Amino acid sequence: MDRQAKVATGRFLVTGGAGFIGSNFVRYVREQFPAAQVTVLDKLTYAGNPANLEAFAGTPGYDFVRGDICDPQLMNELLARGYDWVLNFAAETHVDRSIGDPGQFVHTDVYGVYTLLEAVKTHGAGRFIQISTDEVYGEVLADASREDAPLMPRNPYAASKAGGDRLAYSYFATFGLPVVITRCSNNYGPYQYPEKLIPLFATNALEDRKLPVYGSGKNCRDWIHVNDHVRALVALLETDGVEGEVFNIGAYNEKDVLQIADRILRALDKPDSLIAHVVDRPGHDRRYAVDSTKLEQRTGWRPAVAFDDGIAETVRWYQENEAWWQPLKSGVFWEFYQKNYKFLDPGEPGPES
Ligand code: NAD
Ligand code: DAU
Repeated sequence: MDRQAKVATGRFLVTGGAGFIGSNFVRYVREQFPAAQVTVLDKLTYAGNPANLEAFAGTPGYDFVRGDICDPQLMNELLARGYDWVLNFAAETHVDRSIGDPGQFVHTDVYGVYTLLEAVKTHGAGRFIQISTDEVYGEVLADASREDAPLMPRNPYAASKAGGDRLAYSYFATFGLPVVITRCSNNYGPYQYPEKLIPLFATNALEDRKLPVYGSGKNCRDWIHVNDHVRALVALLETDGVEGEVFNIGAYNEKDVLQIADRILRALDKPDSLIAHVVDRPGHDRRYAVDSTKLEQRTGWRPAVAFDDGIAETVRWYQENEAWWQPLKSGVFWEFYQKNYKFLDPGEPGPES
């Protein structure tokens, strides 16, 4: 059987599969590879949402396990089932939360990766992909980081992810585990928890709430559609001889926060007066940019979604799926929002309005 067929018919373990990128990955695998078997393991933190996966519940070849990647016994039992492809999306992922409460980030994003790697060491797997992030390079003021650039993470989320990233590599170098590490740029698309920039601004604009722009609004990110990220991961699974390597994933699509706000307001026909400049994020990285040449040359992958199309379709998705995001903008969301954005105008409508 060739490698592509092995991927298409393989057994997948997707940790963190109830989150934004993980659930889009599961959706892609279920649609493209109907013969594959998929297990999702997820703790269902505030960011994990069973609604993201409800289309697959009870379907043949799919099962869901609620649990924590930091639980050695559970990871051991799970990996003993035998998986071809293990992809670790599970993480605490929001930079602002890592500033207020770093401990859970260190626990999940470092210790959780260790626990998972130990179970893979015991039971084996065809390949283990650690989903790292371009934030591990830190602020990139010029050019774009290649995979051999120094790691200079500047916030507790990025530093914890760098720990997990290098720990995964160490299990390749020391124990020969078939580990691949990916460092993707900022994803956007459907099913993203509305604390991140694009879904927060889209849903706030839909509710006629302020769009809180940190500082100048000139901070740049390389925005990639989540489906392009997912396709890159599949392309890596389908490629031989990449164990022990790091791959950047980016779309060469730099936009600053004000440009994103403008796209969203235009798409929804809302006024600029919704923009509110607020106190900056501490340690706010000015710019991230990755060079994905290595991935393109080794796998033939290219980003396929043009930003104009992707952002228009994404804003439309939030417009048409209020029933998905409205319940999320409640208890735990508002608790964090009011703490993080306490500098908003006193007149800013809160949860009760
Ligand atoms: P997300 O916050 O939407 O989802 C994270 C998922 O992990 C949730 O379902 C959550 O319940 C689960 N989880 C958290 N802690 C867990 C634990 N201890 N055990 C089991 N499950 C746990 O995040 P996302 O945006 O989908 O990111 C997925 C991965 O991709 C993360 O590793 C993140 O660091 C990485 N990443 C994200 C982006 C981005 O732009 N969103 C870019 C590059 C890399
Ligand atoms: O680069 C990859 C990373 O992208 C991932 O590893 C992280 O998991 C993901 O959360 C994301 O991190 P960022 O910090 O770049 O994303 P966020 O959506 O939080 O912020 C994007 C930019 O928008 C950043 O410059 C901060 C700014 N921002 C964000 C929010 C939530 C605002 O100006 N206002 C806001 O309310």
